[in-house]
Amino acid sequence: IGPDVIDIRKLYGQTGKFTYDPGFLSTASCQSAITYIDGDKGELLYRGYPIEQLATNCDFLDTCYLLLKGELPNEQQQKDFHKLVNNHTMVNEQMQFFLRGFRRDAHPMAVMTGLVGGLSAFYHDSTDINNPQHREIAAIRLIAKMPTLVAMAYKYSIGQPYIYPKNDLSYAGNFMRMMFATPCADYEPNDVLVRAMDRIFILHADHEQNASTSTVRLCGSSGTNPFAAIAAGVACLWGPAHGGANEAALNMLEEIQRNGGVEKIGEFINQVKDKTSSVKLMGFGHRVYKNYDPRAKLMRETCHEVLGALGLENDPLFKLAMALEKIALEDEYFVARKLYPNVDFYSGIVQRAIGIPVSLFTAIFALARTVGWIAQLNEMIADPEYKIGRPRQLYVGAPRRDVPPIQQR
Ligand code: ACO
Repeated sequence: IGPDVIDIRKLYGQTGKFTYDPGFLSTASCQSAITYIDGDKGELLYRGYPIEQLATNCDFLDTCYLLLKGELPNEQQQKDFHKLVNNHTMVNEQMQFFLRGFRRDAHPMAVMTGLVGGLSAFYHDSTDINNPQHREIAAIRLIAKMPTLVAMAYKYSIGQPYIYPKNDLSYAGNFMRMMFATPCADYEPNDVLVRAMDRIFILHADHEQNASTSTVRLCGSSGTNPFAAIAAGVACLWGPAHGGANEAALNMLEEIQRNGGVEKIGEFINQVKDKTSSVKLMGFGHRVYKNYDPRAKLMRETCHEVLGALGLENDPLFKLAMALEKIALEDEYFVARKLYPNVDFYSGIVQRAIGIPVSLFTAIFALARTVGWIAQLNEMIADPEYKIGRPRQLYVGAPRRDVPPIQQR
């Protein structure tokens, strides 16, 4: 905080004034030391480290450690942390009966909202958000169990038996095995694909005060338990303007492909530009980035690697995405509004190539973002000055009036 920053609390107390800022376009809701974004430069740092370096030199569990504890682990800490997380990958057997209550064609995010909130019914030793030990064990449980829950939701949706975690695998490798192995055939994780999945997790791990993180903070500020707060984040992330965008982006690409592919991009772009159409270029635009999203660059690179490893270099959807990107980046509409591809533009193509069904994309985003939500929640609760979040409003309704008798209404 610089020397000339106004003490807003004092100002508020003295004048009784408050700001009106729909969508929080220029209101900071908290101080945070976790993630830094420079939207104009297209820079993203976790605890000061550039995302490019983390995505290249670290794995997801290192990133989790960094986000939670503020520093990267040394060798011993890395070993201990991996072991600790691995100790908690199983979920209570009762969870499968809870899961069975859902229709098999339920959207995985509907299921995840229930399952994550449901964890609080099983782990009574980690539900007191004001107790640092409870918060610590809840954090490990959530990070460890999310892959198991997402894989269970997937297996349930396709009518296959659940695959239990195998803890000598990496975090991403274990998740992929729980997704793709069956009791009849084990899954041999391919290094390039596992690394791609791990990178998806790293790139989605935190993104400062986005809608779902703010939801988790607000929910946690009431003193609710950590599982309930994270379930609120899952629910918020589901929306197509936020976590649902990768699913929407891939659906959009498939639709353009079905309607004629690269040749029809111009027509599609015209539709997007037509303000009466409400069609958006999904995977483009960002509230904070007014330059290329650095995660999108890394994801495009991963896309090349994965498609190359699978012999799918000529994947028509990837070609379409690159052509669409090129045309949009040269179009005056997108240039004037500083609309660039965001991470979701390419992550859907990568996940589809790995074999992840489209409907599971947002659940995987939730899996990865869980650590960011927890780190942000812990940062808020550990601050002795934290208060319940309670936005004000500008009331624009009817003035005081009397209830008329029913005959006169
Ligand atoms: N396609 C076409 N036009 C767009 C797009 C888009 N994807 N995004 C923004 N615009 C236009 C708006 O219509 C608006 O135009 P106007 O000034 O003529 O009215 C202008 O650009 C500014 O956009 P806002 O909606 O004010 O920007 P905001 O910061 O509120 O929204 C958001 C950001 C929600 C991400 C938006 O860009 C969007 O809906 N993008 C598509 C969905 C998407 O990809 N979401 C993923 C976000 S990243 C994430 O969650 C990991």
